[in-house]
Parts: sequence; C-alpha cells; structure tokens
Amino acid sequence: MKILVVGTGAREHAICQAIHGDADIYSIMSNQNPGIARISQFKIGSEMDIEMVKKYALDMNVDMAIIGPEAPLEHGIVDTLQESGIPCVGPTQQAARIETDKAFMRALFTKHNISGSIAYGSFNTVEDAGEFIDEFAQDVVVKPVGLTGGKGVKIVGEHLKDSEDAKNYVKEIIDNKIGGHAGVVLEERLIGEEFTVQALVDGDHLIPMPAAQDHPHAYEGDQGPITGGMGSYSDKDGLLPFLGSKDYDAAVKVMEETINAVKKEVGPYKGVLYGQFMLCRDGPKLVEYNARFGDPEAMNVLPLMETSMVDLCQGVVDGNLKKAQFKPQATVCKYLVPNGYPENGKAGQPIKVDEEKIKAEGGMVFYAAVNQQDGKVFTTGSRALGLVTTADSIQDAEERCERATQYVQGDLYHRKDVGTEELIFKRILHMKEIRG
Ligand code: GLY
Repeated sequence: MKILVVGTGAREHAICQAIHGDADIYSIMSNQNPGIARISQFKIGSEMDIEMVKKYALDMNVDMAIIGPEAPLEHGIVDTLQESGIPCVGPTQQAARIETDKAFMRALFTKHNISGSIAYGSFNTVEDAGEFIDEFAQDVVVKPVGLTGGKGVKIVGEHLKDSEDAKNYVKEIIDNKIGGHAGVVLEERLIGEEFTVQALVDGDHLIPMPAAQDHPHAYEGDQGPITGGMGSYSDKDGLLPFLGSKDYDAAVKVMEETINAVKKEVGPYKGVLYGQFMLCRDGPKLVEYNARFGDPEAMNVLPLMETSMVDLCQGVVDGNLKKAQFKPQATVCKYLVPNGYPENGKAGQPIKVDEEKIKAEGGMVFYAAVNQQDGKVFTTGSRALGLVTTADSIQDAEERCERATQYVQGDLYHRKDVGTEELIFKRILHMKEIRG
C-alpha cells in the first residue's frame, strides 16, 4: 500500500510514524522535516499547490492520501485528488466547512438541533454585529468566519476589554477580511475547562480516540499570548482527571450528530474530526471543530494506537470503519519552541537533538517547523519539536518528558508545567467550583 501524507509538521510526522512499517510512505512537505524525511520518499513543495500534489500522487501511483493541515482542505485538495481516483482521509471542501466556515458550523447546529450548542450570531456588517453585542449584554467571543491559524479568536474579559473593544475588533475583521471573509461570528463566552476529542470518521461511523487537553498559552500558569498549542496530555482510561465518562460520551454524541447533519447538508464527512469542547456547568459545549488531527493532540493519541492505522484509514475511505484499540497508557507532549514564539520566533537557529537519550527516557521526538540542511536541523520560527512520553500515569509521563527536554539544545523554550500534578489539580478545582 502506497500512502501520500500531505503536510510538514509534528502532526504529519506522528501520522507517518503511525503508518510506518505498514505502508510505503510518500510525502509533500514545505521544509525538510527530518522525522518525515527518514521514513518517506518526499518532495519539497507547498502543500497548497494542489495541482503539484495531484501530479506527484499520480506519478507515484499512490493508493490513498492523508491530508494533515486544514488550509489545503479549504482549497479543495480532497475533491481534486478524488476526481483523479485517489481516495483521501480528509473531508471534501464542502464538508471541511465545519472548520473553515464558522457561520456554517453554528447554523448547522441550529438547523439540526445538535446538542452542545451555544448562543451565537453571525454577521457581515459592523452595524448588525454591534446591535447584537449591545442586546446580548454579556461577554462575547469574537471569531472571524474563516481560517486564522488559531490566532483570530478574541474574548471579552481576556483579549478585549469591553463591548466597545469587541466592536472595534469586529470592524477590523470586516474591513480587512481577516480570515479571508468580511464576516464574524459572535458567541457567548463559555466558562469551564477545555478538552479535545478526535475521531476517525467514514461518513457514517465515528471512532472516538482518547480525550486530551492542550495548553494554548505561551507561558506557564496559562499566561501570555495564544499559540498553536504548547503541549498536551491524556490519561490511561481515555478520559481526563476533570472529565468523566458521562461528559466524554456527551461530547462524542455531539460529534455523531454533527457528521449526520453534515451528510444531509453537503455529503459524507470522511477523515478526522477534531472537537474542541468546553466542559461547562451543564456539560460539554462545542467551542469549534477542526477538519483534521489536532497539533499537538495527534501526538497523544497516535502513539497509543494498537489497531493498524493503515487499516483504519482504509476503513475511512471504504466507509466501513470498525473498532480501534488504544494502549491504556497516559501520555504527555511538550512542545519546544524558538525564543520569541509566537510573535517573533527566531528562524534559522540550529538545534541539536539527542534522540538516543530521549529514547532511553521512553520518549519520542516529533519534528515540527524545522528544516534539515546538510545534516543539521534549523528552526523556521514556529514550534520546533514535540517530545512525547507514555507511562502508567500522567505524573510519570510528565517527569520523563521533562527529563527528556534536557536532550534538546538550541535557542528554545517550553512550558515546564504541562501535565504537572499542580496544574492538573488546578483544573480539577476549577471544575469543582463551576459545578458546585
Ligand atoms: N490544538 C489546536 C489545534 O490543533 O488547532
């Protein structure tokens, strides 16, 4: 079986690692990711150059393609590859609107009465949005309708001072078409703890994976700017220390209802569905969907997969997904990122990774936004690499992961608190306060 993996980062490295040994891997990446390069035949090029990807896939005669990032999905890479006879793990352009068009996603929830829905409005004019903000009279979350790489969402009380600030941000989005559209979605501000559920979907059936929690803030104690995610953890029972099975099941039900609704509206959803939820006083509410694996959360679940990922991908494209088994182990992932990230991450800085010593700690390395040149590895400005450990407890995995960080050298930093008992205890207490 020949499989093309599209994408350059740690998420795609984790995908390649999961199919390594069961498939011949081909990859398209924009930089030379050393982890992907060593286990694939690859071509360096933009994953947005869909005609080039198609030609490479046809020239290499691949049997299937797995699409890592969201941007090519928005541009219809799956439609193009499928028209050329290449089945894909990834949704069509229309089905990917679940991520790429936030107004579509919220309207779908309303129309199909999907559970986990929240109060919202979507607007194309500054005036209409302003009226909603005045009438709503509670803190709102302002989201550009389109894709912003996770950096466009602003919340009153966190990034925005008050309603006036929210209106100014709405104007900025609409005037400058931030996210590619002159449109915003305004949502109620949710209070709780965030968690992620990722699932493989074959159009009708959904296989949920262990829950994980990401850490979007740059600095310890959940301080600093929002990043792509500084690290994540998962627990051996597939739940989280603050998330029980009833709430996990409720989140999965939201996702099942969503894929049924997507099928009715635009056709079957095939690929990976990433649900980001807020666990609120009265249960999980949907914050947003991604039409792909999470990054870093892919690194929590893929190393635990006991069922062949190749068989699961075949199930996705054939529409007959069966059960998947995951090792009952906890995981911790810590991202090492260039100093200055996310605003001004330093590019072109050399990093040295002692993979043998990391392995001796039971750790795995997933390379992200780096470039390999003449045998050396350099930063490119964004997150450099994820270190992942698995163990019988989150605490043990965290301690190993932290020890493993000493074997990476470079102008980098990481959050030492991801997966620590102290931070997890804070999450548990927070939920207790909210739920009484
Ligand atoms: N963990 C955030 C994302 O994958 O977008």
